[in-house]
Amino acid sequence: MSNPDKQDVKKFWGSLYDSLYEDVDRDMTREKLIASIDDLEDMFRMRDFMSVVEMPLDDLAGKRVLEIGPGAGGHSALFARHGAIMTSADITFDRARSTQAKFDLMGEMAQGAQALQSDGENLPFADDTFDIVYSNGVLHHTPDTERAIAEVYRVLKPGGQAVIMLYCKSSWHYWVNMVIGVGILRGKLITGSNWLGRATEWGGKKQQTVANPITRCYTAGGIRKLFSAFTDITLRKGEFYFYLIPGLGRFYRRWQIKHYGTHPGGLLVYGEPWPIQSPLETRLGKIMGFAWFITGRKS
Ligand SMILES: C[S@@+](CC[C@H](N)C(=O)[O-])C[C@H]1O[C@@H](n2cnc3c(N)ncnc32)[C@H](O)[C@@H]1O
Repeated sequence: MSNPDKQDVKKFWGSLYDSLYEDVDRDMTREKLIASIDDLEDMFRMRDFMSVVEMPLDDLAGKRVLEIGPGAGGHSALFARHGAIMTSADITFDRARSTQAKFDLMGEMAQGAQALQSDGENLPFADDTFDIVYSNGVLHHTPDTERAIAEVYRVLKPGGQAVIMLYCKSSWHYWVNMVIGVGILRGKLITGSNWLGRATEWGGKKQQTVANPITRCYTAGGIRKLFSAFTDITLRKGEFYFYLIPGLGRFYRRWQIKHYGTHPGGLLVYGEPWPIQSPLETRLGKIMGFAWFITGRKS
């Protein structure tokens, strides 16, 4: 698969939807959803995650917010709970449907919210539409990331803000887990330009049978180039987990869950409780984490 296209992208994320979220969505009720959104916010606060640090939650009421790639809709539901008027665009039908189902369950709490199947590289919105465009872990998985970032800029109102997470190349996960652990020791580096996507294993309750067609990672310089049209750019690193070390990581994960426990906030975004990370991992995330939390303003 040398030139992955949008069908490959939809196929992979569709299969992962079935594996991660299908059972959670089947059993969802309004009460469960509201409790899960509050758990999600609590988990994000514990992790200093972008959706509570870079996103101005207390200032969202009445703001028009676009989320690109909402997945099963957890982040979008959180922003709607804080009063944002949400539009959520995911290329994968089941994920857009899952997000809309959450808005429907929220009722008046998600007033004006809509989810649609749409490609972040060709957004069906007029120029200067949104106050905030948010996207977590999405635009490094689309064939033309530059085009998608140009779309973010186009649909933002002047003065509007982009809040985006992309994978970080200057990280332990990229160099040690992926390049050394998977690329060299498991021989995936020689399998072609999309080796990183194919090498990425994703959590799920079923055996993964469809490969992820694209994953990209960026240096700080790469991010600044990608966001060169924006002003007031901020960059912060986060997210480090010992359990991602290929092979050995699964032993650590068992110990970690025994020692630190799990947080129910993982349900809406990972389909299961999140294994709580150690204070050391939180500190390492700031230095060598695999997430860039990025903000930029349209002037
Ligand atoms: C890693 S998941 C992230 C989901 C969600 N943002 C979260 O953090 O839980 C990537 C998501 O991006 C979506 N996606 C991938 N390429 C896309 C594109 N070109 N336009 C819109 N959504 C896309 C996938 O369908 C999937 O839902």
